[in-house]
Amino acid sequence: MLAIIGGSGLTRLSTLAIARSEVVPTPYGEASSALLFGQIGGRDAVFLARHGHGHGIPPHRINYRANLWALKERGATAVLAVATVGGIRGVLPGELLLPHQIIDYSHGREATFFDGGDGGVVHVDFTHPYSAALRVKCLAAAAAGGIALTDGGVYGAMSGPRLETVAEIDRMERDGATVVGMTGMPEAVLARELELPYAAIAVVVNHAAGRGDSAAAISMAGIASVLETAMERVRALLERVAPLI
Ligand code: HPA
Repeated sequence: MLAIIGGSGLTRLSTLAIARSEVVPTPYGEASSALLFGQIGGRDAVFLARHGHGHGIPPHRINYRANLWALKERGATAVLAVATVGGIRGVLPGELLLPHQIIDYSHGREATFFDGGDGGVVHVDFTHPYSAALRVKCLAAAAAGGIALTDGGVYGAMSGPRLETVAEIDRMERDGATVVGMTGMPEAVLARELELPYAAIAVVVNHAAGRGDSAAAISMAGIASVLETAMERVRALLERVAPLI
């Protein structure tokens, strides 16, 4: 069953025909929201609002472990994450991008299920953080639906909740990051640790700090307007991806 983790602008999924909702207890505490089970594109799917249904949980307070654990526990076999990002290089607000690599700049988060003790010491392979098979399906769905989806990019995960300085974005650009967001890690690695294929649809909602029309500051009003129209395309894409899973 496909799991969809929705971020800012996608706390509800109108295309999901909801059959039931369930609060799943986990050894790691509470997930961000109840899991919503239903159908999308004619297939069973489960939806989780990463920031809570009321969008009250900031990126650094998200219980990523509980979220992934709850999804796995209730039968998810693949996870498609939707996350807003700022564009650092070669991408424009409004664009949908399917990253192929990650640089993790986040800190202070519970970032592993393998915390020693009885589980021993485990070093999970993370060479290719996103599932190749899931990425191919996203690209196929996008092509079939005539939805523009940029193939590949490096996602830089910052802790937030503040936005970045120009010097930080300059450094990320030198490192090779294409986009910057606040939730991509440890979400991706926790999925890997649970052996859940994971891919992310990054929704570029602004130029990163110091770039384009964010030269002086990042406009929240600008983000809101881009988000609204972009999420229509994300919903259409999800409807086409689900039957391919
Ligand atoms: N930086 C970090 N996270 C973001 C941004 C940004 O510019 N835009 C949307 N999420």
